[in-house]
Amino acid sequence: MIQIKNNVFLLKNENISYMFRVTKDGNLEHLHFGASVEIDDEDAFAVRYGVGWGSTGGPEGEEFPMYLPMEWSSLGRGDYRESPMELDQEIPAAFKYTSYKEYDHTVAIECGLPQAHGDAETLEIIMTSPSQMSLHLFYTLFDTAVTRRAVFRNETRGSINVEKMMSSMMDIQGDYEITTYNGAWIAEMQPYRAKVGMSGIVNESTTGFSSALHNPGFMLSEPDATETDGVVMGFNLIYSGNHYSRVQRSNEGLIRIVQGISPVSFDWLLGPGKQFETPEAVMVWSASGFGGMSENMHRFINEHIIPQYWHNRERPVLYNDWEGCMFDFTESKLISLAKKAKELGCELFVLDDGWFGERNSDKAGLGDYNVNKKKLPNGLSGLQKKLGDLGLDFGLWFEPEAVNPDSDLFRKHPDWAIQSDDGVTVLGRNELLLDLSLPEVRDYIVENVSRCIDEGKVSYVKWDMNRHSTALGASAHRYILGLYDVLRRIFGPRPEVLLESCSSGGNRFDLGMLCFSPQIWASDNTDAVERCRIQYQLSYLYPLSTIGAHVSATPHSQTLRDTPLSTRGNISFFGLLGYEFDLADLTPVETDEIKNQIAFYKKYRNLFQFGSFRRLKAAEGISMQVSGDGTAVAGLFHELVHAAPGYERLYPRGLDPKKVYSVLSRRQLLNATKFGGLLRHVLPIRVKPDGAVVRTAGKIYRMNDAVRECDATGAALMSGMSLNARFMGTGYDPGMRMQGDFSSNIYVITTEET
Ligand code: DGJ
Repeated sequence: MIQIKNNVFLLKNENISYMFRVTKDGNLEHLHFGASVEIDDEDAFAVRYGVGWGSTGGPEGEEFPMYLPMEWSSLGRGDYRESPMELDQEIPAAFKYTSYKEYDHTVAIECGLPQAHGDAETLEIIMTSPSQMSLHLFYTLFDTAVTRRAVFRNETRGSINVEKMMSSMMDIQGDYEITTYNGAWIAEMQPYRAKVGMSGIVNESTTGFSSALHNPGFMLSEPDATETDGVVMGFNLIYSGNHYSRVQRSNEGLIRIVQGISPVSFDWLLGPGKQFETPEAVMVWSASGFGGMSENMHRFINEHIIPQYWHNRERPVLYNDWEGCMFDFTESKLISLAKKAKELGCELFVLDDGWFGERNSDKAGLGDYNVNKKKLPNGLSGLQKKLGDLGLDFGLWFEPEAVNPDSDLFRKHPDWAIQSDDGVTVLGRNELLLDLSLPEVRDYIVENVSRCIDEGKVSYVKWDMNRHSTALGASAHRYILGLYDVLRRIFGPRPEVLLESCSSGGNRFDLGMLCFSPQIWASDNTDAVERCRIQYQLSYLYPLSTIGAHVSATPHSQTLRDTPLSTRGNISFFGLLGYEFDLADLTPVETDEIKNQIAFYKKYRNLFQFGSFRRLKAAEGISMQVSGDGTAVAGLFHELVHAAPGYERLYPRGLDPKKVYSVLSRRQLLNATKFGGLLRHVLPIRVKPDGAVVRTAGKIYRMNDAVRECDATGAALMSGMSLNARFMGTGYDPGMRMQGDFSSNIYVITTEET
């Protein structure tokens, strides 16, 4: 609901509210973002400034001092904090409130930027400057989030250069810490938490894209906030290009938050009568800690960001050939992998890189779309037909935004690639970016990708992009608008094609891409232990339905770690399950184990993908849970185990305290080879720990790990359910957990009571 009274504006629903007012001088004073409140609460929030601080400036004759909490701030009026907007003008524009408009829906962004959709109300605040410029601040209220964006209109007779233009600015009160997510290739989502100080913290990407270096999402939390208590706010931007956020504390204890497109190399020439629209900034709030904030953010993304067709629609279990084959495959190799994938329970077969042109390594072929007939003599449709006969859907990899200099496309259109003016070719993974601001480049991509999708009856597309570039400079924003145009033209008419975006893993994991692709490949790091950390951190700001998570081979290619197959499956359950290694290497017991994993995931797929997600308390390791409709599934993940371990408990959450639940751990198997020389103590015959007998046994036989069963009330379980003791070398008992390093368990918690 939007309420307006005596120049006070309130957007509110049962979860949140956002309140500000227009001062006598036409400034916008921020009052509140948080719990649902009433419009008459204005007085409780407004800062009382008395006679004010010394050494501050402000427009003569105006009462409103520029160190107050504001919604927008014009340059040159005494506000020395971060400014939301800079124009190439000798005299800065002073924007003052003039009017407002109300809408009972979202208001369309005209320039092609993606935006949140669904039930919402919007308030437009119009501010004008005497020099014929206007600023339109859009506030949209969704059930668990508020979004903001700004539109600048040049109503002068000349052109204006926009040098910096944020989507939102807000000054809040309180003591907050900021958490940002930084990283690199195969090391995404590393949290950095710091107190918000007076120099401020900048979270910015300048690689041309949102990037794994600094994910656009961040959180502000009260210093003592926990998973379940305390105020936590989540912020993000519906944008895939260079982004910028700064959070800065003022001397008066106000925290200014600005969010928008990075001003680095940004420059937008706005002709007379033209407007510049910024991407939508997202804000959620919760007083129930990080968990409450995540729940609100997940809900917002699942209901208002993900394309409509994919709302609550279950995603297939897929097999991807990349880590198993790389560039080296033939149709018959793919079909034999597909047969095995089908036997395991996979539903979709994804052919990754290497199917076109001279693409036999990452050095050539990118930009071309002719099928490599040596590898696929029957073309895409021939392969699809065979997969279809096996009962598998067909998924295909593309990297449409880049080109190898060694490609037919580059030889024909060298000018389509983005290059520097000194003639020196600067490559990243042997690639150059195509200039998506050019209509002919966009047409080429749209035509070719669409043709391949239709020819191959492709039901899933992996859209990769491995080349970030600072050479985009001032055209970076045009490139991103071009990208959105291409995505809209290809997938708009084909909403049922599932798009998974990827950028060398999670190098473009953002809400802009999620508006087109319901899921994103989270990282090229498929080591289960590392993945557990990456997925866990992603869960703060993104729902599990968006996180591509695959089981890969061991020893792992990046860490050389040998992680049990059970753990590799268990962590992939907390995301979108897939398998990505050479299935010809599977032993009979591994085949059985994977069949079990896939059957288990399918049974609880709706919970894993769309259930309520919670991070659980754990004495050591990481613990997470999904739940809904009387069932919860919890996972407990360990890294290095300790000798002489203490007692351990599982702490499920969100159960009905009064109902009785049954807990059953998922059946897991142990490889006998893990026990090495210890086997001598339990076997009647003497065997060599690394001898043929033990190795053969390891391929066809697995030992059962301990099972935990328990019936108890929700109240008892939530107080901490005791877990089986761990193996510690003092003897063997079938009731012990025996897994060792990198072990994990899954517990299914169900109730029959309604
Ligand atoms: C990078 C992606 O992240 C990988 O999953 C794979 O698709 C390769 N590109 C293919 O070149």
